[in-house]
Amino acid sequence: MGRIEWTPALSIGLENIDEEHKKLIAICNKLAHNIKGPSNSQVITEEFKDLRAYTVYHFSNEEKYQKTIHYPEANAHAQEHARLRKSVKDFQQSLYKEGYIPQQTVINFLKDWLINHVLREDMKIGQFARSKMTTGTSQELRSQPKENVDPSIVS
Ligand SMILES: [Fe+2]
Ligand SMILES: [Fe+2]
Repeated sequence: MGRIEWTPALSIGLENIDEEHKKLIAICNKLAHNIKGPSNSQVITEEFKDLRAYTVYHFSNEEKYQKTIHYPEANAHAQEHARLRKSVKDFQQSLYKEGYIPQQTVINFLKDWLINHVLREDMKIGQFARSKMTTGTSQELRSQPKENVDPSIVS
C-alpha cells in the first residue's frame, strides 16, 4: 500500500469528523510503513495501541453525533464500528501471542476501513446531516459533541 493521502474526496463535509479521519490516516500510514520495514514488534505493538485508542475515541464521537441528528442508520453503523474495533483487537492479540502479524492482512484491513468505511458509510452521515440542515437548520447539527478526550493528546 502506498501512503494514503487525505484528499477532499474523503471529506464527509463535517469538519470535526474529517479532522479525526486525517489523524486516523496518519496513524495508519505510520503503522503500514513500519510493518513493512525492519521495526521490531515492540514498535508495532505501541502503534496498535495508539490505533486502538484513537479508534475507540473516534467511533464514540461519531456515534454520539449520529444520535444528535437522529441518523436512521445509526444501529447498522455501530455494528460496522464494532466489527472494525474487533479486528484491531484481534490483531493486537495475535501480535501478542505470535509476535508477528502478516503485513498484507493489516494492509487489507486498513484499506477496507479507511477507504470503504469512510467513503461509503461515514459519507452517508454527512449527506444526511446536510439534508437536515437544508430542511430545518439547527445549530446542534453543525457541531459534533466533544465530550471525549482525544487519546493522542493525553498520553
Ligand atoms: Fe464510521
Ligand atoms: Fe469515521
